[in-house]
Amino acid sequence: MASERGLVLQPATQAELSRWITQACGVILGPDKAYLLEHRLTGLLTELKIDTFEALRDRLLDGRIAGLRERVVESIVTHETSFFRDRHPFEAYRQNLLPACRSRWLADRSSSMMPARPIRIWSAACSTGQEPVSLAIGALEWLRTGGAADLRPSDIRIVATDISNRIIQQARTGRYSDGDLSRGMSPELRTRYFRPENGSWVLENEPAGMIEYRRFNFVEAGFGLGIFDLVFCRNVLIYFDDALKKRVIEELQRSLAPGGYLMLGSAESLYGISDKFQSLVMQGSQVYLRT
Ligand SMILES: C[S@@+](CC[C@H](N)C(=O)[O-])C[C@H]1O[C@@H](n2cnc3c(N)ncnc32)[C@H](O)[C@@H]1O
Repeated sequence: MASERGLVLQPATQAELSRWITQACGVILGPDKAYLLEHRLTGLLTELKIDTFEALRDRLLDGRIAGLRERVVESIVTHETSFFRDRHPFEAYRQNLLPACRSRWLADRSSSMMPARPIRIWSAACSTGQEPVSLAIGALEWLRTGGAADLRPSDIRIVATDISNRIIQQARTGRYSDGDLSRGMSPELRTRYFRPENGSWVLENEPAGMIEYRRFNFVEAGFGLGIFDLVFCRNVLIYFDDALKKRVIEELQRSLAPGGYLMLGSAESLYGISDKFQSLVMQGSQVYLRT
């Protein structure tokens, strides 16, 4: 097969590159994805003046080009996202999940001499930040409209992670274009939570201050981000094989407090992957309760 630059990706090289990518980030690229692999890597080859896919494979294995491995992973993974994506999960968040987290927070507070720990939410595979920003704004709207008089925004902390440093750095700026905001952010919420600056929109300090961005790769052993009350892990497991899905879900289960909740993407489920969660439907979304 020849790419637009006339580069040829031989089946054997394709198999080696795919294997390397699966080890690096979990994404499965079978022979049917050869075109995708070739298309996504050709721009990188041009930019780095690497002449063949075989040379790329060799440089990946010998590690002689600093940052190459991360650039390859970034070229391969899909960063598609939007604010309040699929709407229903964020309805469930506001109507059911935040109130449930609050009840547990109140119970912890009254049963412990220690100051209550914040409600901790993890947006795993957060891409450019639309999901954690939706979670922060969703929580602020819930508080603003009388959801919980006993909670302050600082009682809700969101950890947002992604494999890509470049994407995490972009998310940290809190800067979005008109086009980004047109995908899911209402004009009313835009006015309340973003300020215009040099032709784009910047997230205001209050929602931004609730979010901590960190780089994190599901393939690496031991999650080590602490215990969460709620995990949003959406539209990333679909790229992994069942063995990695099982490993990730086991780690997520360990990362959730008993009684905590897991939200997956609309095309993802725990069917055949784990029986350690109770499946519930809230506001039209499937939600998993850690038993
Ligand atoms: C399609 S986006 C989903 C974004 C968001 N969760 C949503 O549903 O809108 C998938 C994200 O998963 C990240 N990703 C892919 N493989 C990963 C891995 N092994 N560890 C952590 N993040 C990964 C990608 O960088 C990408 O930003």
